[in-house]
Amino acid sequence: MKRMPFIAGNWKMNKTVSESIDLIKQLKADLSRVEGVEVAVAPPFTALYAVRKELEGSPIQLAAQNLFWEEKGAFTGEIAPTMLKELGCHYVILGHSERRQFFGETDETVNRKTRATLKQGLKVIFCIGETLKEREAGKTFAVIQRQVTGGLKDISKEEMRSVVVAYEPVWSIGTGKTATPEQAEEVHRFIRKKLEELYSREIAEGVRIQYGGSVTPENVKGLMGQENIDGALVGGASLKSETFSKIVRFKEM
Ligand code: PGA
Repeated sequence: MKRMPFIAGNWKMNKTVSESIDLIKQLKADLSRVEGVEVAVAPPFTALYAVRKELEGSPIQLAAQNLFWEEKGAFTGEIAPTMLKELGCHYVILGHSERRQFFGETDETVNRKTRATLKQGLKVIFCIGETLKEREAGKTFAVIQRQVTGGLKDISKEEMRSVVVAYEPVWSIGTGKTATPEQAEEVHRFIRKKLEELYSREIAEGVRIQYGGSVTPENVKGLMGQENIDGALVGGASLKSETFSKIVRFKEM
C-alpha cells in the first residue's frame, strides 16, 4: 500500500494574526501547484479563524496545536474539540513533547485528548519521542512502546485510520540535531510493528508516521527516502514560506 506523504507545519507560539495571514498568503502562492503530498499548517489558536478564511478553496489543511477533552463547561482558558471542528480544523496535534515537558501532559492526558478529538471526527497528529537521557540509557524503544500503548489506549481500529503518528526525538527538536535517516527509520519501523500488534497489519500499513525534529529543506529528502517515514512535522522551518514550501516539494529537491 502506498501512503500519501504528509507534511505539517507546527507554528508553535509564533505569529500574530496579521503575521499569520502574511505567511499563509505566501504559502498558498508558493504551493499552488504541488500534488501528491498532503499539507497542513498549525497556527496558534488566535490565528486559526483568520488562516481558515485565507485557506478557503485551498488544499492546505488546518490543524490546532492542542485542545481539552471536555465538551464544554467551566474550564477557564481551555478549548473544546467542537470549537475546533466548527472552525474548520482537520487535525489536532496532541502529545507534543513541549506539552509533555512544560505543561505536565502524560500518556493518560494525551489519551483522553486523543479519544475526545477522534470522537468529534477530527484527525490527530499523535506525537511521541524519547529524550536524550532516555536514548543514552538505551530506553528509546521502551519509551516509545509506553507512549504508543498508553496514548492510544481504547482507540478503535476504525478510529486509528484518522491518526497520524509523529515520531519526534526530543533531543532533535529545535536543536539542529536531526536524527539520521537510519536512526529515524529504526524507530519508525518499531512503531509500525507495535501498531500491527495492537491493531492489524492492514491498519499498521495504512498509518502515516511523520518524523519531526530539525527538519530542513536540506535533510528532508534523505528522511523521506526511508521506507517507514511518511512525512514530516516541521517547527522552525515552517515559519517561513521559503523553507516550508521547499520541504513540501521534497520530491523536486
Ligand atoms: P523543529 O520542531 O522543526 O523546530 O525542530 C519540530 C516540532 O517540534 O514539531
